[in-house]
Amino acid sequence: MKLFSAHIEDLRSLYISNLKKALDMEQKITKSLDDLIQNSTDPELADAFRVHLDETRGHVSTVESLLRTHIGEAATETCKVINGLATEASDTIKDATDPGVRDIALISAAQQVEHHEIAVYGTLRRWAEILGLDQDAALIESIEAEEENADAVLTQIADRVNLEATVQS
Ligand SMILES: [Fe+2]
Ligand SMILES: [Fe+2]
Repeated sequence: MKLFSAHIEDLRSLYISNLKKALDMEQKITKSLDDLIQNSTDPELADAFRVHLDETRGHVSTVESLLRTHIGEAATETCKVINGLATEASDTIKDATDPGVRDIALISAAQQVEHHEIAVYGTLRRWAEILGLDQDAALIESIEAEEENADAVLTQIADRVNLEATVQS
């Protein structure tokens, strides 16, 4: 696709606006992961959330540094999707009283967040490439890889936890 300079300016504004939303999203995810850690019963699940909380703090720093490079400040715009997903997650924690079922529900809530992040960073990486921002694209790709890995780890744990819940019932 060939873009004219006016389109490039529009795309650049869209890119910055979506980086600001990504920062808001990551800041909120650090809080959600804390809740997920505190409410998970399975030790491997709690560890996976802890590892990803560390990675998420790194995502916050990376997106902040990209914004500082482009606009001189790490400003945010509200990510409405993460607000909805966080509400879903806290409702899930409240509703699931059985620990095994709650773990399954926590994994489901966390994977919805990961899938949203994968979509967000896939788009941002593509836009960075179109804008010729190769360094941005490389940094965003490394975040994307950690989101995909977190999702894959959760799928593995879900397979085991689901099986255990079925055997116990
Ligand atoms: Fe993230
Ligand atoms: Fe994530």
